[in-house]
Amino acid sequence: MKLEQSFMDFMLHHQERHRRSYNFLVLLEAVQTAAKYIQYFYQTGSLKNIMCEAGFTNVQGENVLKMDDTADAIVMHYLRRSNQVICAVSEEEPDPVVLNEDGGRYFIYYDPLDGSSNVKHNLPVGFMFAVAKRNLEGPEDHHLRKGSELRAAGIFLIPNGVFTLALAETGVYRFHLDETMTYVIPENAERLTKPQDPKDWELSFNAANRTTFAGPVREWIAGNEPKYAFRYMGSLAGDFHRLLSNGGMFMYPAIVNHPRPEKNRPKGKLRLLYEANVAAFIAREAGGAAIDENGVDILEIAPESPHQRTALYVGSRPLVEDMRALLRRT
Ligand code: AHG
Ligand code: MN
Ligand code: MN
Repeated sequence: MKLEQSFMDFMLHHQERHRRSYNFLVLLEAVQTAAKYIQYFYQTGSLKNIMCEAGFTNVQGENVLKMDDTADAIVMHYLRRSNQVICAVSEEEPDPVVLNEDGGRYFIYYDPLDGSSNVKHNLPVGFMFAVAKRNLEGPEDHHLRKGSELRAAGIFLIPNGVFTLALAETGVYRFHLDETMTYVIPENAERLTKPQDPKDWELSFNAANRTTFAGPVREWIAGNEPKYAFRYMGSLAGDFHRLLSNGGMFMYPAIVNHPRPEKNRPKGKLRLLYEANVAAFIAREAGGAAIDENGVDILEIAPESPHQRTALYVGSRPLVEDMRALLRRT
């Protein structure tokens, strides 16, 4: 009989090996429980009629789906019950939510359901999160954490049942949901830190926006596009998932040349704290890199507000560095 190593067993031994507390385990237990419930609601959502719009917008002016709202309520519930979270920032909540001011040790930033345009087609979405520690030495100042202060970040791909977790200075691991609804790490699982073969590299961006990108970005695309395969599923969680295995670059550049200027997004579309940072942190632990429109490392951006946006170029280091050189030239 072959028994795979469960995610919690993996984490327990990881914490013990590094002489770390079990609090992080309790936090991740809450996170994976939430992911399983999101998975369940997603799989049965069409029957429950929750794959449609909720009828209201979030603080960012986006139409909220019932499924976005459901996923957010699930995550918040389990985070609150864990007693480990001092404060949570969710895409779906206007302000940071203080959960356990006294006992909580962690800050968490999350997008409960990434890739909402896939929902009505039952296609892949993600639950993305990033974790930082509170100041355990002195009084907590509640500042929004930079990516470089994160201790972990992960993406649950739903309904595919694959969980990618990056741990600071440790690497990236992938877990699979088995028939007993347990996340397990297959015995032969490879750590996602080996450089990928450039012949497998892929590019991923919304091609419909290409004429709206800044000059250097269009120049880079013109020069490089023919060399690589192109894949785009419209959810960062899914697109980045592929990229992590195959290598290449995902980008959501600033939109600066839209024929209707009111549609320009000079700061990009993706949110720094719970989208870009998650991908950037995982990329770093896998040996890759991530930058914004100014060629600044995503993980070095000091956040000013919970929902701030950023352009994002993330993936294999040579491609990101190439883009950085072009962006910095202007
Ligand atoms: P969300 O569904 O959480 O609002 O995020 C959507 C984001 C991201 O997942 C994806 O990469 C991007 O929007 C896709 O945008 P376009 O439809 O403009 O390509
Ligand atoms: Mn998202
Ligand atoms: Mn979302």
